Parts: sequence; C-alpha cells; structure tokens
Amino acid sequence: MSELDQMRETALAAIASANNADAVEKLRVEYLGKQGSISALLKTLGKMNPEERQTEGPKIHGLRQAVTDALLARKAELDVAALNAQLAREVVDLSLPASSAPKGSVHPVSQVMDELAEIFADMGFSVATGPEIEDDWHNFTALNMAETHPARAMHDTFYFPESDNNADGNRMLLRTHTSPVQIRSMVEQGAPIRLIAPGRVYRSDSDATHTPMFHQVEGLVIDRDIHLGHLKWTLETFLKAFFEREDIVLRLRPSYFPFTEPSVEVDVGWEEVNGRRVLGGDGDAPGHGWMELLGSGVVNRKVIQFAGLDPDEWQGFAFGVGVDRLAMLKYGMDDLRAFFDGDQRWLDHYGFSHLDQPTLSTGVGAKA
Ligand code: PHE
Repeated sequence: MSELDQMRETALAAIASANNADAVEKLRVEYLGKQGSISALLKTLGKMNPEERQTEGPKIHGLRQAVTDALLARKAELDVAALNAQLAREVVDLSLPASSAPKGSVHPVSQVMDELAEIFADMGFSVATGPEIEDDWHNFTALNMAETHPARAMHDTFYFPESDNNADGNRMLLRTHTSPVQIRSMVEQGAPIRLIAPGRVYRSDSDATHTPMFHQVEGLVIDRDIHLGHLKWTLETFLKAFFEREDIVLRLRPSYFPFTEPSVEVDVGWEEVNGRRVLGGDGDAPGHGWMELLGSGVVNRKVIQFAGLDPDEWQGFAFGVGVDRLAMLKYGMDDLRAFFDGDQRWLDHYGFSHLDQPTLSTGVGAKA
C-alpha cells in the first residue's frame, strides 16, 4: 500500500472514531491546519518536477478532499446526535407535580367577591356585570339623575372628552358606582330579577380610605309586591353569613339616593375585641357602636320606567356596598391603599390560597 493510501486509511479511521466536535476539530488541525500533515504534502508539490506533479498532484488533492469530506460528514453526524440527546434530556413531563410550593395568592377582593357570589347564589341570585367605561345615561340619567341634578356633583366623576361621546350623543365616563348594571339588567332581562353585580368603580378621590378605583357589589331584586321587609331580611341573612356571626344587628336610617324611594342607610352594630372593632352585637350596648355600611332602598318608580318596565306591576329593592370595605372589616386591614400597591409581602400576609374556595359547607372565610 502506498504511503498516501495508508495516510488516508489512518485519517478516515481516526475521523470515524472521533466522538465529539472537539475531537473532530483537533483532527482537522492535525491534517489540514497550517502545520497539518496533508498541508505539508501539498507544499511538496512546488518542489516536484512537472511530470511528478502531474501524477502526485491529483492523489494529494484527492486525499485532501476525502479527509475534508469525512470531517464534515462526521461533524454533521455528531451535531444531529447532540441535538437528539438534548431533546431527549429536555423532555417536560406535564403530568409531574409542581416541584416548588405554589406561589401567588388570591387577593382579598377576589376572595370576598367569591364569598358574596356563594352566599347570594344560595338565595337564588345570579351574578351580572356591566362595562366600566359607561355612558352618562346608564350611570346617571336612567338612575333619576338628570343632567342638572345636584347628586351628579356628589360623584367626583372621571369623564372622557366630548369627542368620545357614544352614538346616542351620551358623554362617556368611568362608572362611579355599580348601579348602572341595574338599568342594563332590567333592559336586557326584563322582570323578575334577582342579581348581584360586583365590579370596579372609579371616583376622583384619594386618602387612607378612598382610592380612585375601588370595588362595589350591587344587589337588585325586581318582582311583584317587594317591600322594605324583603330588603332587611336579605341584608341580615347576607351579613350573618358573610361575617359568620348570628348576632349581626342592623339599624336602618332614612337617607337619600335619587334612584331609591324610600332610601335607607344601613348601620351595623360593632363591639371591641382585642382593641379591634368587629361587627356583631347590639350597637346601643355600652362600649358598642354603629358603623355605616351600605346604601339601599326601594327602587324608584322612575328608574323602573327608565328601564322599560311598568312600575305598577314591578317593584324591587337595591343596595350597594363597598367590597374593599367588607374585606377590611372582615380581615382586619386598615389602609385601603395597600390593596392596590401589589406588594408581595402584603399579599403573602392577607392573600388566600387558591385551594380555599369559599363554600357554605366549609365556611365562606377560610382564614377568619
Ligand atoms: N350607588 C350607591 C353609591 O354608590 C349605593 C346604592 C346602591 C344605594 C343601590 C342605593 C341603592 O353610593
């Protein structure tokens, strides 16, 4: 066997047994690098006479080509093998349990909304929603607040520019309360109705107990022969279930809302436990007191008319209560602003496990 044939055989064998990219590269340098053995052979061509060069030239170039091809082929083979190995290694088994404790928690506002839905569902209420970007007809006019009505000024409303007026020419705004859902539901569903409508509302107001965005839940019942007694029973039943105390005492005070007539402000009795005011007990007893909790009343005839129903046939009651305030009273936070800071430490402390689904059987306040 010629020297060249031997070189070829040795080189191809070495290349075939190189088992990683580094080994292939080392062989390339060994044969084809500046100081490589095949490169050295190529240099000898210059010193040959023409006849020699004609016979040796093709052999040496052939050797270089064969080794170059073998190196490339081996490299490609190894690349494919490496990729396959990586793919095999990185397989994700989605059926495995999470490797670390679940992070994140349910915000108290979400938790309280779930608790409300659970309690009211048991009384036959469904959950309704409406848009946060509302028009002034649904937010004010249909709730018996004409454009010049002074009650409009009580809500520090965020208005959109007049250029954003809707097709009916109504001014757009961020809803200041959940009461427009009363109108939308009556228009869409007709009567009878039994619903709650939780959601975000907006007013230009900011201090320890007011934030520009906060949460309310609206309640609406429309049926025949509904009166204040139904309202009082419903609120009492709801508050007892929510605060998980049988001794919740309500005090109804006459009030004014344009969309209810009569209107009632509802106070709840509180007592002091470990320096903290908790709801429960007779507010008139020594050391006890009353706390204003929500607004409510019998739906104004005009509102029922605005919503397209006959007020001689249908009556009802409505109420509106701050969800954030309910959460603060039940779970003991004292600054509303922290609700919306997104501070992980606050959420770790006040948040709920996603496993703590409020149910009437296990309790609607897993942490209380
Ligand atoms: N919408 C009123 C508010 O935001 C609350 C309310 C709702 C009062 C329903 C009466 C009936 O203050």
